[in-house]
Amino acid sequence: MRLLMVIAIVIFAMPITGFGWAEGSNILLDPYLMCKKTRRLRGKMAEICRHDSALLKEIINGINLGFRECEFQFRNRRWNCTALRKSMRKILMRDTRETGFVNAITSAGVTYAVTKACTLGNLIECSCDRSHSRRNGGQPQMVNAVTAVAALERQQAAYEKINTTNVAKRGRGKNRRGRLLKNIKFPEGEWEWGGCSDNVNFGFRHSRVFLDSRYRRRSDLRTMVKLHNNRAGRLTIRDSMRLECKCHGLSGSCTVKTCWLKMPPFREVAARLRDKFDRASKVILRNDGNSYMPEIETLKQPTKYDLVYSDDSPDFCEPNMRTGSVGTQERECNATSLKSDSCEQLCCNRGYKHRIVSEWVNCKCVFKWCCEVTCEKCLEKREINTCL
Ligand SMILES: *[C@@H]1O[C@H](CO)[C@@H](O)[C@H](O)[C@H]1NC(C)=O
Ligand SMILES: *[C@@H]1O[C@H](CO)[C@@H](O)[C@H](O)[C@H]1NC(C)=O
Ligand SMILES: *[C@@H]1O[C@H](CO)[C@@H](O)[C@H](O)[C@H]1NC(C)=O
Repeated sequence: MRLLMVIAIVIFAMPITGFGWAEGSNILLDPYLMCKKTRRLRGKMAEICRHDSALLKEIINGINLGFRECEFQFRNRRWNCTALRKSMRKILMRDTRETGFVNAITSAGVTYAVTKACTLGNLIECSCDRSHSRRNGGQPQMVNAVTAVAALERQQAAYEKINTTNVAKRGRGKNRRGRLLKNIKFPEGEWEWGGCSDNVNFGFRHSRVFLDSRYRRRSDLRTMVKLHNNRAGRLTIRDSMRLECKCHGLSGSCTVKTCWLKMPPFREVAARLRDKFDRASKVILRNDGNSYMPEIETLKQPTKYDLVYSDDSPDFCEPNMRTGSVGTQERECNATSLKSDSCEQLCCNRGYKHRIVSEWVNCKCVFKWCCEVTCEKCLEKREINTCL
């Protein structure tokens, strides 16, 4: 009898916890486990998990890239995106600003790593994006800023399966599309597509398959917020693509110029996401039950590029198992800074310990021809302040 009940509970719980995996597991913390445990997976996700270890490896590289960069961007704040599992697990179970940032930056990280792997030729299923460099009967096709923008917009619309007629009708087309390409600086005059454009659409799509597909069918506020932030992370990459060009011709005369699209360094993407973290909007469920709006009615509806959240954050001053805060005790602070790493802010006005340490460092380094640097060791004093 008891056994039957247990079975009944397990079966009942499966759809709720998503294919029956343990409460609190998260795809970002256990991507392999997730692949193993989700036997019932179908479609693209199952393909990646079962047959495509190279792509899966890049996806996991991307998640780790996201976590590393999260730590870097927040190193001077109370919540420093610590990789401690017990903390991150709790952060990911909630729906605060921090949760939103972690979701966005890992989703961006996956887009980035997969796209880079295509460019480097590390994956068999993708390579450079040559879709806009179609040649005209064997002749290189010259483009200029206007024709290039038009072609890129068409490609983008086709990719998003947007009916451009409809978009234009609703009068939002201009803004939407302007945004996509606003960071690209096109050279003057004519040039041709060449080189290797980063295949960001491939990375975008696979980040979405891997990170979103488990949640597609749900429509609670947390799920909507999570999918929104995942997408915002991916869009931040696509939105910051740039054009690189190279001159050809006799002694740099630049009679022919070839250009390609390239992602910015990931650190730049991460810094933009951090700015979005600072401006993130708190949202609540609308009456219709399947959309959300700003908690403060007078604020404007967040766009798909913004980060959103629905729970308030703790202050991260003291350790708290429930929220995933590890506290700021023993953190190193800066006594002269006026920003988030100042001893007042970082230590939550608890005060701090001051000590001077002496360290041996390299000094009086001399460069010797060729190619060696020799240094002496000097004892140097350094001031260290740590939170009480
Ligand atoms: C796009 O929308 C227009 C007007 O609503 C419609 O006539 C047309 O068939 C649509 N095209 C596609 C490809 O869906
Ligand atoms: C982040 O905070 C934790 C807990 O206070 C600390 O152990 C860790 O060294 C910090 N990480 C960085 C990069 O400062
Ligand atoms: C402390 O903050 C000041 C002012 O922002 C800065 O100039 C200095 O480099 C910082 N010190 C350390 C050790 O980070």
